[in-house]
Amino acid sequence: MDAAPTEDEREAVDRVLGPATSGWTGGEREIEFDGRAARGGRDARDLRHLLLPALHALQARVGWISEGGLGYVCRRLTIPPAEAYGVATFYAMFSTTPRPPSVLHVCDDIACRVAGADQLIDEVLAEIGPDRAGQIRRSPCLGMCDRAPAALLQSAGERPSDVGFGPVSLRSLDPFLHGGPWTMSARDATDAAPRTRIREERGGLRLLRRVGIVDPRSLDDYRAHGGYEALRRAVDLGPEGVIRELKDSKLLGRGGAAFPTGTKWELVARQAVRPHYFVCNADESEPGTFKDRVMLANDPFSVIEALTIAGYATGSEKGFIYLRGEYPLAHELLTNAVATGYARGFLGDDVMGEGFRFDVEIRRGAGAYIAGEETALFNSIEGYRAEPRNKPPFPVTHGLFGKPTGINNVETLVNVLEVLRIGGPAYAELGTPDSTGTRLFCLSGAVEAPGVYEVECGTRLGDLLALAGGVRGGETLKAILLGGAAGGFVTPDDLDLRLSFEGAREAGVTLGSGVVMLFDEDADLVDTVLRIAAFFRDESCGQCVPCRVGTVRQEEALHRLVAGRTIGSREDELRLVGDVAEVMREASICGLGQTAASAVQSAISRLGVFDGGASA
Ligand SMILES: Cc1cc2nc3c(=O)[nH]c(=O)nc-3n(C[C@H](O)[C@H](O)[C@H](O)COP(=O)(O)O)c2cc1C
Ligand code: SF4
Ligand code: FES
Repeated sequence: MDAAPTEDEREAVDRVLGPATSGWTGGEREIEFDGRAARGGRDARDLRHLLLPALHALQARVGWISEGGLGYVCRRLTIPPAEAYGVATFYAMFSTTPRPPSVLHVCDDIACRVAGADQLIDEVLAEIGPDRAGQIRRSPCLGMCDRAPAALLQSAGERPSDVGFGPVSLRSLDPFLHGGPWTMSARDATDAAPRTRIREERGGLRLLRRVGIVDPRSLDDYRAHGGYEALRRAVDLGPEGVIRELKDSKLLGRGGAAFPTGTKWELVARQAVRPHYFVCNADESEPGTFKDRVMLANDPFSVIEALTIAGYATGSEKGFIYLRGEYPLAHELLTNAVATGYARGFLGDDVMGEGFRFDVEIRRGAGAYIAGEETALFNSIEGYRAEPRNKPPFPVTHGLFGKPTGINNVETLVNVLEVLRIGGPAYAELGTPDSTGTRLFCLSGAVEAPGVYEVECGTRLGDLLALAGGVRGGETLKAILLGGAAGGFVTPDDLDLRLSFEGAREAGVTLGSGVVMLFDEDADLVDTVLRIAAFFRDESCGQCVPCRVGTVRQEEALHRLVAGRTIGSREDELRLVGDVAEVMREASICGLGQTAASAVQSAISRLGVFDGGASA
């Protein structure tokens, strides 16, 4: 790490960290001071949480993280180089080997490969030739499955830009393939017309009601559509009153674990240790999920308002939004919303003149599914590898920076606005007794109108599909993936399934993050299952053996089954896959390993995908 940074690299890092204060932390060595005593070490160590933003800055400026650039960050933050290297190599969006400044990440995950991503990648590679092959990278789900096949164009430089877009075709890629001005802006490309629908009965849209209606850049427009009325109501109720409403509403978390939101907030609020933190989990990396992207890019002020209410009710003066690194448009709009919030007194030391403080910082992830797990997310913000921590202790007592921390999914937070708008008891009337309120579902794959749909909890699966126009082109439905890669497959016989936590439990599946991905008769389910297995093998953080080894063994055995080169009989191999699944489920540290075999197992047991035959 003795290599010197280039001027560009130094400037990019200094823009995040400020100028170096001493020769000990990467600045000019002043012999008069630095020769006698070390200065600035403690201050530099306190900035460790800026490691990820500093790495982002390097990547965005030169397209990769060089030894000189990383070394400079290490000196600035007094981080041992091996540790910083471990962090930089943890995230898929960072490269520690030279990369061209302009790289196209093409999603080849489940929805996109069904939509022809593999063929598209081959065509693009053929078009640009081997010399430029380094400019194309395969990517796991980019959170744009409604626009499959999707891609993200990253361009590094003095004015770096990222644009996510889809559906991608050779024609739409023309400027990238043959040079020329890139005219597609992120908004044109991803969210010009968010596809959202809801049954109008019982109040119509609640969570999505402003999506596609308000100008996401305008606080005034947001307020004209009811924005900041919930915060006003929260202040009238007081922190305890807000928590009472939430408990009355029986709102359960939408991030996957279905934990009661009111209870979580109450536990944080009760902690005597200070400070408290509140985090909005906007990492959204579950393949097939894109609902949070639609909320964040179309109604960003609602997320900031809800997070502010969470801060107020739980006594947290600082909030973080941990945003998926691959959501450039959401990042731009959230950044604008936060800046406007400060400028207009909705954030800062005297929120709405009500005498309480709340600050919000946005942190971008860098391409790691596991970073969405709450404790891994804390490690990521703190500048460490995004590896989950053992629980207990739980975040409500020992969370971010070891302090009491509340964390909620974007959709959960937006639900809080609705709870305060109509009152907890009225909210509890929506949905089913055990799954109250409405939910967002991400419909993709072979569906007529892909997009985000909001329905009451307990809606029949078949009715949700009908809302989205059913199977594309009137084809025959073969299977539905519910809950994402960590969820499971159901069949056309399951259309009576109720979309509630208890309904899913009864059917032996999970709603997870609201994924509903359709596969028609033409879909190659073997290929889909192999991709899911590869995803988990790739995304396992490797910290615990059952998951690190299990995800590899699972994938290997599936490939042997497909190739007909089984160890022993097919039954022996399937038994092995079952055993591996059980070990991962029972012995993994976190939810990734615990669910890494769920979809595979359901494909085997419900769809007979590896029977060597018919239904695959
Ligand atoms: C591997 C893994 C990935 C996760 N990714 C996300 C995510 O992207 N967004 C999210 O809100 N929760 C995610 N979670 C769940 C979080 O750990 C946590 O339960 C959630 O943020 C709590 O919010 P809620 O109570 O509002 O559901 C993930 C969990 C696991 C195990
Ligand atoms: S289960 Fe997998 S992802 Fe989770 S801690 Fe263990 S190795 Fe990491
Ligand atoms: S964007 Fe390709 S599968 Fe989600």
